[in-house]
Amino acid sequence: MPVRTTNDFTKIKTPSEIADMRVSGRILAGVLAAIRQYVQPGVTQKDVSALAARELKSLGGLPVFLNYQGYPDIICVSVNDAVVHGIPTNQAFKEGDVAGFDFGVSYNGMITDSAFSMVVGSANDQAKSRLVRVTEEALSAGIKTLRDKVRVGDIGAAVSRVLDRHHYGIVRDLVGHGVGHRLHEDPDIPNYGMPGTGPILRAGMTVAIEPMASLGDGAVMIDQDGWTVRTADGSVSAHFEHTVLITETGAEVLTTL
Ligand code: MF3
Ligand code: CO
Repeated sequence: MPVRTTNDFTKIKTPSEIADMRVSGRILAGVLAAIRQYVQPGVTQKDVSALAARELKSLGGLPVFLNYQGYPDIICVSVNDAVVHGIPTNQAFKEGDVAGFDFGVSYNGMITDSAFSMVVGSANDQAKSRLVRVTEEALSAGIKTLRDKVRVGDIGAAVSRVLDRHHYGIVRDLVGHGVGHRLHEDPDIPNYGMPGTGPILRAGMTVAIEPMASLGDGAVMIDQDGWTVRTADGSVSAHFEHTVLITETGAEVLTTL
């Protein structure tokens, strides 16, 4: 994957770094909330990128994705069979599209990363809305495992348990990650795993958990544009992501209002 590089293991953040990440995460949540309100049939992907730029400017953060490993926009917009890393185009959203929006914010040098998916318009497609709802539930299940000394395999096991129960494809080629000083810090956090295995995470570390699920199997391929990750079988997919602070007894979601 073009976006994966080897990094230092995510650090235990200082109180002032955590304070900056709270601000960063609140700004990011504000941008995503504005996008959710704005998206409807007829709006284009580039319109969403422009909205994100305006909102970010007024809320006071800096974009993280632009020029990251050569990525050409401030936001990723991934529609239907596009899982993640879609580059905004002039295409308009249509009723019933499953649209994912992934954004990163830097505030005082501290980075947060978050994404959500939605069904566009008022279409009442049960299969698509269930995929979106359950993928968000899988993210919540992953977050619920967090506490001091949680192991990476505990997170993946909880995420995959929810997705497996609904027989969704789990994308295994892409993973969550540490985050904070850089967009991608070690360790990788897969959306599958064995409880009690993998690296140990400590209170004060910050991680991005990001389940990606499809109505087919979990196999993916890279589009001709060199970025967009698509399901290999063309099935519709969903993606949710939060940046989360691990605490002694639990977790604090940072990318929230
Ligand atoms: N949230 C995405 C990820 O963790 C960020 C993509 S950065 C981009 O992979 F530059 F590739 F857009
Ligand atoms: Co991420």
